[in-house]
Amino acid sequence: MISEKIREDFPLLKKHPGLIYFDNAATSLKPQQVIDEVSRYYSEVSANSGRGSHRLAQRAGYEVEKSREEVAKFIKAKPGELVFTKNATESINVVAESLERAGKFKDGDEIVISILEHHANLIPWQQVCKRTGAKLKVVNLNDDFTLNMNDLEEKITRKTKMIAMAHASNTVATILPVEKISKIAHDNGALCLIDVAQSTPGIEINSKKIGADFMAFSAHKMLGPTGIGGLYIKEEHIDKMEPYNYGGGIISKVTIEKSDWVKGPEKFEAGTKPIAEAMGFAAAAKYLSKIGIGKVREHEMQLVKYALKKMGEIKDLKTYCPNNAEKQTGIVLFGIDGIDAVDLGVVVDEVSKVAIRTGLHCAEPMVSSINPKGLARASFYLYNTLEEIDTFVDALTATSNSFK
Ligand SMILES: Cc1ncc(COP(=O)(O)O)c(C=O)c1O
Repeated sequence: MISEKIREDFPLLKKHPGLIYFDNAATSLKPQQVIDEVSRYYSEVSANSGRGSHRLAQRAGYEVEKSREEVAKFIKAKPGELVFTKNATESINVVAESLERAGKFKDGDEIVISILEHHANLIPWQQVCKRTGAKLKVVNLNDDFTLNMNDLEEKITRKTKMIAMAHASNTVATILPVEKISKIAHDNGALCLIDVAQSTPGIEINSKKIGADFMAFSAHKMLGPTGIGGLYIKEEHIDKMEPYNYGGGIISKVTIEKSDWVKGPEKFEAGTKPIAEAMGFAAAAKYLSKIGIGKVREHEMQLVKYALKKMGEIKDLKTYCPNNAEKQTGIVLFGIDGIDAVDLGVVVDEVSKVAIRTGLHCAEPMVSSINPKGLARASFYLYNTLEEIDTFVDALTATSNSFK
């Protein structure tokens, strides 16, 4: 397991002694190294990038491109394939809208997603379908919450233009076979988008191995700042897509009548860039790489294995995930018979300072198919410990008993 010394890097844990932070799938805590790098922008650089010839402006441009290199390296992509967006949600919207504007989807075409998608990978496609007449098809899960591959094969036809799926679910925690999914897409002449928002924090991402055309992720879930996300676009697609936002920074020439776009990722980065955030994003990628993403995964697997075992011993508690550390991330979705999930979240926080997420988790079709009133979710990360899980399980047991 990763040494507990790592907790010293996270100032929030010192500010809130006793806090047990199990809401990592919503957002992670930030190490001092990331906070320092964001602050370095304001204290040392502060100029706008790509906006001037003075030295500080040049420096700001250099910091953005250096950060792009670092984050691209983290997902084994070329810097020219990495767009900085606001978050994973915006990354998926960029792909959906830019392809639609380029005429990729028409009446009768099909877009295939899975039932476990976060709203970020559902609603943009719903909207494309509404505007173009394309049809949204949804792949189901097996009883153990893994993706039903037979259903996937059945739902794909020659009309399929896009398969858009998560690498890992933010609710039922399943890790999807993304290499197979992108191969199936390409074998059928479709494009493939993989939402890697829940996998970048703890699973090695290799853009070439996954083979998708697009990947979307958020810095804040992988120790980085809020306000910035990543969008991987396979090099061959960038010049064929239309911009998403329009304005400064994306053009090579402008007249009153028309504008020409720059080549490369900046075509999708209209307006002032999130410079401080990009620097923090790069610092987060560096921090995780230094520990080793394999070590992070190992740590998470040990925590989730232990949590599944201990939580499984609580009477009336049910978990909704593959119940197998190899097949899932460090998330446990659960409910206790007779206790509302929101009440459960409030009580474990008040009694034992455990922060968990409750509700429908921005994945309403998935969660409401299990319980329309919502469920609770504990999600672990590299600074969590087995002792914290013990305290959490004690709190759950006491809560369960007190509601009876
Ligand atoms: C699988 C998945 N996709 C997309 C998102 C959206 O991320 P963001 O809110 O940072 O855009 C989330 C956030 O929870 C997620 O878990």
